[in-house]
Amino acid sequence: MYPQSLSPVQQVDFALFLIFAFSAVVLFILTTITVYFLWRYHHKRHPVPVDIRGNVTAEVIWTLIPSLMIMGLFYYGWTGYKALRTVPPNAMQVAVTAKMFSWTFTYPGGKSSSYLAVPVGVPVQLNLHSVDVIHSFFVPAFRIKMDTVPGMKTYAWFKAEQEGVYDIYCAEYCGVRHANMLSTVRAMDAAAFAAWVADTGPVSGPAAGKAFLEAQGCFGCHVTGETISPPFEGMYGSTRVVLEGNKERTVKVDEAYLHEAIVDPGKLIVKGYDNIMPPYTDFTEQQMMDIMEYFRSIGDESFINAMPPGMEGHAHEMPGGNGTMGHS
Ligand code: CUA
Repeated sequence: MYPQSLSPVQQVDFALFLIFAFSAVVLFILTTITVYFLWRYHHKRHPVPVDIRGNVTAEVIWTLIPSLMIMGLFYYGWTGYKALRTVPPNAMQVAVTAKMFSWTFTYPGGKSSSYLAVPVGVPVQLNLHSVDVIHSFFVPAFRIKMDTVPGMKTYAWFKAEQEGVYDIYCAEYCGVRHANMLSTVRAMDAAAFAAWVADTGPVSGPAAGKAFLEAQGCFGCHVTGETISPPFEGMYGSTRVVLEGNKERTVKVDEAYLHEAIVDPGKLIVKGYDNIMPPYTDFTEQQMMDIMEYFRSIGDESFINAMPPGMEGHAHEMPGGNGTMGHS
């Protein structure tokens, strides 16, 4: 057998199988011997116990054989671990940002996505970091699980051998929506991937704003029907009760309010919701403008109806049909 020629997936599986089979055999042998000894050395058959001491041969055997077996298991565990930690030099680099409660994947060309698109047959190195608490990036299909730790860089790598969609989980409890911190790996052929990564979506306007929010994973929480975060629909132009510290007040949702809600979400908490959103301070001016246009386009009905005639069509134009649809 030549472990170096196996993929990390095969090596991890082999180590797991080996340890399982080994444990099963040991369990069987020990159970058999125990039952036999119970019968053989019952006091009826063996009334006088004998104290045996100083059998060097027996001591050497029961030290040496288990040591060799454990070293054998360790060898296969170690080669599997090395395969998972040794990234092929030609690997494609993708930055993975974990935050409560979404994953964002950023490609060398600058494209961001809320799911991980990869070409089949190309090794991918994931450079992981977290902006808030510890999460864990887990893709069972590729046998990779790696913590993302604030202030620390971690990595993992994998190679998709077949086209398909593979689940991504967060495997470290990180808050109320930990179980919903999901995404997918979407493995596609080289041509489809090249087209996907080159398609940066709408350049500006409400559709660009929506695509950007999707890539940031915002729709993981801000969706209609969820009780965890205020939904985006009908938000712009509405009034709502917020808490500033313990003080209640009513605010009009306009651009200034939304801007503050993005860069400093803990300052004014919408009544009935928890302070769980991390601040987003690195959006560009263009991105902010697109986001506002998107919010305006799905804003409060009475607000949209009150718009000057020229703006109306703009506001009702529903964004969609772009290349960065998230898992929302
Ligand atoms: Cu992120 Cu659990």
